[in-house]
Amino acid sequence: MEMGGFLFYVFIFLLTTLLSYIFLGGDKKERPQTRAKLPPGSMGWPYMGETLQLYSQDPNVFFADKQKRYGEIFKTHILGCPCVMLASPEAARFVLVTEANLFKPTYPKSKERLIGPAALFFHQGDNHIRLRKLVQGSLSLDALRNLMQGIQAITASTLDSWGGGHVINTFHEMKKFSFEVGILAIFGHLDSHYRDELKKNYCLVDKGYNSFPISIPGTPYKKALLARKRLTNILADIICERKEKKSLEKDLLGCLLNSKNEKGEILTDDQIADNVIGVLFAAQDTTASVMAWIVKYLHDNPKLLEAVKAEQNAIRKANDEGNRPLSWSQTRKMPVSYKVVLESLRIASIISFTFREAVADVEYKGYIIPKGWKVMPLFRNIHHNSEFFSDPQRFDPSRFEVAPKPNTFMPFGSGVHACPGNELAKLEMLTMIHHLVTKFRWEVVESHSGIQYSPFPVPLHGPPARFWKESME
Ligand code: HEM
Repeated sequence: MEMGGFLFYVFIFLLTTLLSYIFLGGDKKERPQTRAKLPPGSMGWPYMGETLQLYSQDPNVFFADKQKRYGEIFKTHILGCPCVMLASPEAARFVLVTEANLFKPTYPKSKERLIGPAALFFHQGDNHIRLRKLVQGSLSLDALRNLMQGIQAITASTLDSWGGGHVINTFHEMKKFSFEVGILAIFGHLDSHYRDELKKNYCLVDKGYNSFPISIPGTPYKKALLARKRLTNILADIICERKEKKSLEKDLLGCLLNSKNEKGEILTDDQIADNVIGVLFAAQDTTASVMAWIVKYLHDNPKLLEAVKAEQNAIRKANDEGNRPLSWSQTRKMPVSYKVVLESLRIASIISFTFREAVADVEYKGYIIPKGWKVMPLFRNIHHNSEFFSDPQRFDPSRFEVAPKPNTFMPFGSGVHACPGNELAKLEMLTMIHHLVTKFRWEVVESHSGIQYSPFPVPLHGPPARFWKESME
């Protein structure tokens, strides 16, 4: 969503929350029952807190200013919720790993409705463990090895569609790519009729996800809800066909369909649908955003691009000039490209922070985090802290020649909810880099430093770029 549109929605939000504050008598949740001291920080205006300060500027500036003023832990009040923000590796570990049971995942209800309430990232405890095992199983290294051929075919056809020298929006095109790979990981081979229907309706859900959640006819949010219902029906047809075939596929749908808990109960079709949509959602924009940054960083660093090309051309040569496909083991031995991926993940930090909610009053380093407050580990602040990454604004993959200090590098999160798709995401990025640099050259049009929040940070307009297939010249 464009910043202007977003600010409009923030304005509407502020207006409605101010009115409800006046008429409903203020925010009672904010006052903790205990005498222990709250972290430092300011709560801004009654109810609306510091929402405007956060959304009227680059959010990174907001977080960095706060950290400078108050240190690694500070309180604030955003979008109607009192929050504690945590900007140190130890604090992030405390919330996500060691005391994870005291902090539950929390998402706005409007978003949960669109994805589906049974998706694993909304859950905690035993139910979460069960769902997570299934998702993890379908994304294990063994499972990914079997996807190699499919991912390469998708990469090749994606790149061929860009190769004519016309200007494309890199992020939008990468989204098409990561969507196709998501479909492959979830369904294996899927009939093109189902794929088209899924794509059409998922696009509407995607558009509505970042819009103002007002459910009246004609709004993007309402259209998204209707599309989500149609997705349930399409998935029911796919599930029905699969059940008839009685196949024991190892893709995500197969894992979800064949699962039984200790009581012998299987998952309902709704639970399956919510988790399929959840994984598609978690897989698409994230991977596409990082790949858009990789295209830009490689373009802006010609020396580095040469080093990556040398590495990838040597692999291509070993594969009989590309007549044999890239193998799984080759993707595990790409040290230069791998460091480019890691550094892109660090510097872009597309998931700048995550949200949890304290399920009880929790004490951390002498401060109280009251029950019901939101807690936000700030990944980006940690990744951009010069104490852990020297000259943090410089794109320098060689910094990963030495492993980062523990808990300072968390592009995929940490603990029980850490990203189960991280190996697939890295495989996609390395496969894309291989095919891109060995067969294409490209030019970023308008290569400046603008950033767009889509909602993850991506280079402004994609970035817009032209691609040419080398052999076409
Ligand atoms: C570069 C790409 C990606 C990045 C940066 C990324 C990042 C993350 C992060 C930071 C989390 C943890 C969020 C939290 O703790 O609140 C997460 C969770 C998750 N990711 Fe990813 N992700 C990426 C790609 C993928 C892919 C390709 C998939 C699936 C195919 C995927 C599936 C998931 C799922 C299902 C969860 C929820 C896990 C749970 O709650 O147990 N992600 N991701």
